[in-house]
Amino acid sequence: MRALVLAGGAGTRLRPITYTSAKQLVPVGGKPILFYGLEQIAAAGIVDVGIVVGDTHVEIERAVGDGSAFGLQVTYLQQEAPLGLAHAVLIAEGFLDGDDFVMFLGDNLIEGGIEDLVASFEADRPAAQLLLKRVPDPQRFGVAVLDEDGGVAQLIEKPADPPSDLALVGVYLFTPAILDAARAIEPSWRGELEITDAIQRLLDGGARVRASEVTGWWLDTGKKDELLDANRIVLATIRRRVEGELDAGSAVVGEVVVEPGATLVRSTVRGPAVIGAGTRLEDAYVGPSTSIGRDCHLARCELEHSVVMDGCTVADVPRLEGCLLGRGVVVERTVRRPAAHRLLLGDHSHVELAEG
Ligand code: DAU
Repeated sequence: MRALVLAGGAGTRLRPITYTSAKQLVPVGGKPILFYGLEQIAAAGIVDVGIVVGDTHVEIERAVGDGSAFGLQVTYLQQEAPLGLAHAVLIAEGFLDGDDFVMFLGDNLIEGGIEDLVASFEADRPAAQLLLKRVPDPQRFGVAVLDEDGGVAQLIEKPADPPSDLALVGVYLFTPAILDAARAIEPSWRGELEITDAIQRLLDGGARVRASEVTGWWLDTGKKDELLDANRIVLATIRRRVEGELDAGSAVVGEVVVEPGATLVRSTVRGPAVIGAGTRLEDAYVGPSTSIGRDCHLARCELEHSVVMDGCTVADVPRLEGCLLGRGVVVERTVRRPAAHRLLLGDHSHVELAEG
């Protein structure tokens, strides 16, 4: 059994962050999204992992390396353009080498890991085994229609008028039969070879496709609010570990990770929250559901329900909430006259200024 992890793609919904970073490397709970999947693959006893990469391959390779930090052997598979999930499977054919495999979308997070899933697939070896989750907005996903016996009757990618609310989760198990199916399909309306269409092809050919509903949470971190939500849910599972330095005027309340080399001066952190290594807080308040990256400087500010990536500065801003700050962002109050907001924002940035 091998694993194929998809970390290419464009990430347009997380712009401007994804102009400069891979969406799979945006941190939730203080760790890149991609790492959770890699850890779960390793925990399921899989060693050989192919990671499909696109334009952001340098960054992904720098973060994951040869995979040994995860107990994995990683092979990078360059995809020339994001031509679809089934296209990614096709370019991986040589790496897959005729083995069964789990395909894990690098921007998906699932609770509880994949050990049981892999074991049940290996016991039964259907052509494909899928995970489903009921969602309020099925038109944004691949959708499954089940028959009376709970078998998969039909699969449709992003239907305008969804016939069910069962979305396809981004973790799939396949035998090599999926390769022929992927070769047989045509690009969809969005110009991609859809894995959903390839699995439908398996169904049409009479192959066995099994599906089960995931019981725990499943997070697709495509958009800012989903990402902040994923951060909140993952942070709810962390345990207190305070390894940085606190002065007498600082307090750390609840499940908070303060990494080594972080410094709190007259500051309060109310968990669940993570403060990255080398970050300095001065007269600052960091509230629940917040991850602060490494080497940030937060002074005279309050921040809550947010993800702040490495190297950011936030100073003299009374209250920030629901923020996603990319690397090296500076948000500061100025005394310069005229008293006006001065912004330097990348394409597709989004700023909400509070009244008053
Ligand atoms: O998240 C679950 C959904 O993922 C499923 O419900 C859909 O059926 C499935 O098509 C997929 O939909 P998305 O439109 O959300 O996929 P996205 O383009 O975001 O790509 C998923 C991951 O795969 C992401 O980490 C980028 C990577 N990728 C994507 C494409 C299109 C590649 O590596 N290569 C590609 O060509």
